Amino acid sequence: MKCVKVPLKQLNNIRIKLMENNQMNMEYRIKACDDFGYIPINEDVEGYEIVDIELEPLKRTAHNFSELLEGELNSEEIDNLRTSFDTIGDIVILEIPDDLIGKKQIIGDAALKFTKRRSIYMKKSAVKGTTRVRELEFLAGIDDTVTIHKEHGARLKLDVREVYFSPRLATERKRVMESVCDGENILDMFCGIGPFPIVIAKNKDVNITAVDINKSAIKYMDENIKLNKLKGNIESYCGDVREVSKSFKTKFDRIIMNLPGLAYTFLDVSVNLIEDGGIINYYEFSDSYETGIKRLKDACNKVGKEVEIINCRKVKSTSPGEWHVAIDGKIKKL
Ligand SMILES: C[S@@+](CC[C@H](N)C(=O)[O-])C[C@H]1O[C@@H](n2cnc3c(N)ncnc32)[C@H](O)[C@@H]1O
Repeated sequence: MKCVKVPLKQLNNIRIKLMENNQMNMEYRIKACDDFGYIPINEDVEGYEIVDIELEPLKRTAHNFSELLEGELNSEEIDNLRTSFDTIGDIVILEIPDDLIGKKQIIGDAALKFTKRRSIYMKKSAVKGTTRVRELEFLAGIDDTVTIHKEHGARLKLDVREVYFSPRLATERKRVMESVCDGENILDMFCGIGPFPIVIAKNKDVNITAVDINKSAIKYMDENIKLNKLKGNIESYCGDVREVSKSFKTKFDRIIMNLPGLAYTFLDVSVNLIEDGGIINYYEFSDSYETGIKRLKDACNKVGKEVEIINCRKVKSTSPGEWHVAIDGKIKKL
């Protein structure tokens, strides 16, 4: 059986990563021997030592997701469900389409057996309101919405019922972190539980001011500061960033604006708070980059500044034809 050979200390982190990437072979039992763990894989995985050893097959009850739902759902329905899985720590959140609601319990039980996570919830609403949280319905496992999610070596504690968090932004957070230089003074205007600040401060010696209007998000932001060994420093503020930022004494080399539905309404605040030559990491929902670029240009023009667009990218698809887009702009005085 093809496996990755990993030091025992890293076994759990790597197991979770391989499961999240659908690279782990769930049909075999992980083996621990001497100081190493052997995790069965479906395909070659880059960056690890691959070995071929014998592993014990798991009992036939731990089948794959399709087998668990055989006879209940067709293969297209199963594939659609599988791509809807959001794994946050030991919690899985599923999106069950209206026509399958009658089978939600069977689906939840299958997801619990398949993922071997602690708790399965289904989305009951879209993310909504100022705090961008969604209603969830408990389906299977243990009904406990607090978990610790691991991302790029950082530990992020949160309550999935009380705060916004999306594991699908992990690549974007890494990309932003990699573009940060040591010494930067950064403002995250809409920090949530702090995934951008924590991932950045874990890797870079920076000063970060993190603001969120959701009390629960700031509670977890503060816990996450303590939970992680950080190179940088993070100071959190709870409140409306438009009000809170009035007391800030310094300007910022970088401002992160991940409130994609409404970030454009705060551009007047960010273009005033950015240092000359500083970067705004701006996000919005759109079918193109043009609207966002124009909004950045207009906000700059109003205060005698200009923007040089240094990067645009699609972060994730939100609905057919619409994207969560990222636009990085360098802001300079005219
Ligand atoms: C889409 S979430 C992003 C959270 C975080 N940046 C992340 O990537 O997980 C937007 C956050 O903005 C916060 N928020 C909304 N309006 C705000 C405001 N006026 N001032 C400060 N935070 C606000 C919400 O509570 C929410 O946590």
